[in-house]
Amino acid sequence: MTESKFTIILAAGKGTRMKSKLYKVLHKVCGKSMVDHVLTQVEQIHPDDIVTVVGHGAEAVEAAIGDRSQFVVQEDQLGTGHAVLQAEPLLGDKDGVTMIVSGDTPLLTAATFDKLFAYHQDKGAKATILTASAPDPTGYGRIVRGDLGTVQKIVEQKDASTEEAQIHEINTGVYCFDNKALFSALHEVKNDNAQGEYYLTDVIEILKGRGAVIAAYKMADFDESQGVNDRVALASATKVMRKRINEAHMRDGVTIIDPENTYIDVDVKIGSDTIIEPGVHLEGKTVIGEDCMIGSDTVIIDSTIENGVTTRSSTIESSIMRAGSDIGPNSHLRPQSDIGEGVHIGNFCEVKKATIGKNTKIGHLTYVGDATLGEDINVGCGVVFVNYDGVKKWHTNVGDKAFIGSNSNIVAPVDVADHSFIAAGSTVTKDVPFHAMAIARQRQTNKEGFWDRLPLADSKDWN
Ligand code: UD1
Ligand code: CA
Repeated sequence: MTESKFTIILAAGKGTRMKSKLYKVLHKVCGKSMVDHVLTQVEQIHPDDIVTVVGHGAEAVEAAIGDRSQFVVQEDQLGTGHAVLQAEPLLGDKDGVTMIVSGDTPLLTAATFDKLFAYHQDKGAKATILTASAPDPTGYGRIVRGDLGTVQKIVEQKDASTEEAQIHEINTGVYCFDNKALFSALHEVKNDNAQGEYYLTDVIEILKGRGAVIAAYKMADFDESQGVNDRVALASATKVMRKRINEAHMRDGVTIIDPENTYIDVDVKIGSDTIIEPGVHLEGKTVIGEDCMIGSDTVIIDSTIENGVTTRSSTIESSIMRAGSDIGPNSHLRPQSDIGEGVHIGNFCEVKKATIGKNTKIGHLTYVGDATLGEDINVGCGVVFVNYDGVKKWHTNVGDKAFIGSNSNIVAPVDVADHSFIAAGSTVTKDVPFHAMAIARQRQTNKEGFWDRLPLADSKDWN
């Protein structure tokens, strides 16, 4: 029978060093909160129980995680050891191995967790610490080893002697423990240290004193173990995550011209042979197809971009662009825009809550809001779909192959039928029937001889 596995995620710390109104573990790294990153990796090793320790009033953390974890509340943040003890009512009497991980180490992977478990079992240890060699160990707990290289204890930065502070091997804050040994040792942890806290790390020395086998599994990649305590570290972790995400896409056949200047959230999907130019942001649940050209400075949020789409310096939010359509430069799709196959949206256009049928062209300086447009329509330059009367939004329908002249205002609600025309400069307030042309503007009058009546007309230097 395989041993039961449990995981405790520590997420109750206030994160004072972040200087933020937001709970530390809710700060995002490449579009996902740190605690969600940790949980996503933890889920992949399939623990029997996952318990997250949250602080008093951390409803936001519970809301972000939902039913993916059980929760226990640590009313006062008295230290990491005290935090783990809060899980005792849920886990205390169980047999098995418990992995503890912090909610502020977003770069750790399931593969590393698996290796840690395997090492822990292999060594027959009561406790195994995941360690790494840090180029700059400042701020981390140091791993103190004895003459034979066996782990003696972990000493925190603030409690370290000058020699101990020289140690580069750090505690990543991830451990495997024999579950019952963990909880029994936690009851002996005291807070007589520099920070007056109950340190989880003291459990190591306590178990060592009881003659237990303590192991340390040193991971090769320090970057992966980075903990985030302040905004400098947040940026540093984000940079590592960004590199990881971009490299995975490149390996899957996506061309990224300048990976250091391309910002792709962790859950974004991209098809092969798509090219991504510098300064692009792909956020949230965005899905991009194959053979797309995502041009410089495009921002795409929670949207679906089908195969063969071209975008240039435009912003696309909660919308869909169907195969072969294109947009930009400098246009904006606001939420619920459905851009049909082969549709062209050119420069300085805004589309909101509108469906645009196949091959329709909207080339320049146009606002389309609350509208359903058919196929093969030509929308001229500077057309405004006037959708708001100051109180309510109204809808417009435009049929297939309609021609909308430049600088028209279409005052909703109105139906413009298939194969109809709107003359340039019209303000359309009534339905336009099939095959009709609507002209809704003043007729032109020419005032003959107007020039001669001007006071300056005789002046030789005015021409
Ligand atoms: C901790 C370790 C340190 C290690 C480092 C790795 C201890 C005493 N120190 O230090 O050896 O090198 O992590 O990143 O464990 N938390 C609670 N309740 C509390 C205090 C903390 O839930 O009362 C949570 C925090 O939200 C955080 C995690 O525990 O997710 C770690 O706490 P933090 O204060 O960041 O510890 P470090 O100083 O980084
Ligand atoms: Ca930390």
